[in-house]
Amino acid sequence: MTRKIVVTGGAGYIGSHVCLELVQSGRDVLIIDDFSNAHPEAVNRIGALAGRKVDFLRADLADHGQRQAVADKIKEFGADGAVHLAGLKAVGESVAQPARYYRVNIGSALTLVDAMEAAGAKSIVFSSSATVYGDLNQNPVTETGRTGATNPYGRTKLYIEEILKDVAAADGSWGVVNLRYFNPVGAHHSGRIGEDPNDIPNNLFPFIAQVAVGRRDELSVFGNDYPTRDGTGVRDYIHVVDLAKGHVAALDYLEKGNRGATAVNLGAGRGYSVLEAVAAFKRASNRDIPYEIAPRRDGDVAEIYADPTRAKELLGWSTEKTIDDMCADHWRWQSQNPNGYAGD
Ligand code: WQD
Repeated sequence: MTRKIVVTGGAGYIGSHVCLELVQSGRDVLIIDDFSNAHPEAVNRIGALAGRKVDFLRADLADHGQRQAVADKIKEFGADGAVHLAGLKAVGESVAQPARYYRVNIGSALTLVDAMEAAGAKSIVFSSSATVYGDLNQNPVTETGRTGATNPYGRTKLYIEEILKDVAAADGSWGVVNLRYFNPVGAHHSGRIGEDPNDIPNNLFPFIAQVAVGRRDELSVFGNDYPTRDGTGVRDYIHVVDLAKGHVAALDYLEKGNRGATAVNLGAGRGYSVLEAVAAFKRASNRDIPYEIAPRRDGDVAEIYADPTRAKELLGWSTEKTIDDMCADHWRWQSQNPNGYAGD
């Protein structure tokens, strides 16, 4: 029996890669997206890569006026489970607009829970983040580490994890996996789907890629005086396709009948510095990446990388791709789509 999976935010960077892996694992997918941080063309390309159309509903999960339409569509689709990716994700913006971030991110999650409950599909894989760990733990970080986000965006992730845990505690027929992403980068090897930020990229890799392709003049390295091997920030970069496969593994785990709520790190278990990432991208793109050293960015931690043991033991999942794969695939997407999905 084909398992039917709702993917909220499925037209986005992570979502498009998750949808493709889900279809290729033999599942049917319904994308729910409002295109606030995604492009309709991504849905077309997912279908082309998957060899068949994916079902789609344009909707804003945070809009109460659309709740019934969302619930009706999910019931009509015959959902068995959901991957919840839809939400606002800019750390700096969340500091400036906290009420909006709580309203949108938590409201969207609650709308999905209600709709899945009504459809009798009590399985959710949630897109959480390593940001929930703040700067509170020794590396490598395990899922039992202390949590305490340092910004409203990170707090929405933590609060939604707790909401889903409470839902699963109240009704034992719910199964929840809170996936704590470390730093997703790269793109599908075809170069047809990838990261396409709306405006100036907040994150390192899309910014480096835009410098390499000539859309930006130079990279600002946010601090080179951290207590790390070269003074720049160290993060656990993970290929977005490895990340997407982690979602398939989490759904496999739930479809085996596992219930309750659990948190799982999705990381490689090692870190790379900003300067190491720049060097790797230069190798992959054969382009110069001019940069200047800038002041530290508020809220940044010096170094964080995952202990990936639980993902291996519980989900049978671990990363396969290297930093050079990430850079080569990210560059193929960026060079083939210099202006993202908007085209020329
Ligand atoms: C990585 C490193 C920066 C940009 C955040 C969120 C996380 C997730 C990913 C949403 C850091 C440095 C960056 C730049 C730089 N959320 N940097 N110049 O901050 O680890 O994680 O984004 O997707 O939840 O917390 O990722 O890519 O922003 O930064 O020097 O122009 O690159 O200081 O050391 P981060 P990032």
